[in-house]
Amino acid sequence: MSALYQAGITGLGAYLPAKVLTNFDLEKMVDTTDDWIRTRTGIRERRIAAKGQKSSDLGLEAAKQALQNAGLKPADLELIIVATITPDMLFPSTACSIQARLGAACGAFDMAAACSGFPYALAVSEGLVKAGLYKHILVVGAEMLSSFIDWKDRATCVLFGDGAGAAVVSRLDHDSGHGVIASYLGSDGNQADILQIPGGGSAHPPSEETLKQGLHFLKMQGAEVFKVAVRTMEDAVHEVLRRADLELKDVDWLIPHQANIRILNAVAERLELPPEKVYINVDRYGNMSSASTVVALCEAVSQGLVKKGQIIVLVAFGGGLTWAANVIKW
Ligand code: ACO
Repeated sequence: MSALYQAGITGLGAYLPAKVLTNFDLEKMVDTTDDWIRTRTGIRERRIAAKGQKSSDLGLEAAKQALQNAGLKPADLELIIVATITPDMLFPSTACSIQARLGAACGAFDMAAACSGFPYALAVSEGLVKAGLYKHILVVGAEMLSSFIDWKDRATCVLFGDGAGAAVVSRLDHDSGHGVIASYLGSDGNQADILQIPGGGSAHPPSEETLKQGLHFLKMQGAEVFKVAVRTMEDAVHEVLRRADLELKDVDWLIPHQANIRILNAVAERLELPPEKVYINVDRYGNMSSASTVVALCEAVSQGLVKKGQIIVLVAFGGGLTWAANVIKW
């Protein structure tokens, strides 16, 4: 079935907290070294939100920038989707907080697809805009992983950072010649246990016992996640290109979820994509879950790396497990 309209990104924004936590800072907190972190992950530093800041504060700043870049006002928005696994609270949604503080008058909901959050939310907004149901949707990826990390666990605390990105997805004319061409979403709940925050929900409501066991912290089987990440991101790129009727040689930019440089290198190698076509910022921000792909896209565009008419592939994997990819003609 052909879509009624085209959907495209008309504005982007990013917000990174000012506080920088370097590998050398972490050396003073846990038994680790800058050399171990850099060689195993590619990360040099990450941003940490200020005391009192929450995910909606980060998302709000990114959202304001995206609206300004799109030349729109909050009143133009018809829907707000916030991808996050570190919401301000279980409910109300972080999306409702951003809606209120922007002064928008529209629907708003959160989406939890972990690190695949932004590509998932972009796929949903693409569908709603292409079907003619909405003209302008704000999609935010906002995370404060620093609140859910065990700062005594060297296996996880070196990997994550805080940040937010936002995109306005708007209705475009069919003959505009650009926009989101195709998306692909996947999941496998059978592998939930390799990456999760087990406590705090109805499975393990907060109690003295869950606190004692640290169930409110992010848990990860790193080596397992590594293997699945490489395989699912490679497969997702192939599948989304098939849906877009394009080939790997057509791709100008791969903008992947920034979890670990070794994962990104392995994916690029398997796809036979040269390193200069892969946007990397994991060295500066670490893994920001739902915010990673949208912040990377925002940077690549604002640095003038992405040119009009180029083909971009966004790809991500995360807890769930989930994986997702989008093809965009810029
Ligand atoms: N500093 C020093 N040593 C460490 C550290 C550290 N920060 N962390 C672990 N080690 C040690 C381990 O204890 C282990 O020691 P041992 O051999 O004495 O037991 C040794 O280093 C090797 O550990 P491995 O786990 O084998 O190291 P690996 O090469 O697999 O790298 C890593 C670990 C970086 C976590 C890697 O597995 C990885 O990147 N996995 C994917 C993580 C990821 O992408 N997560 C995404 C989360 S996405 C989301 O949805 C939230």
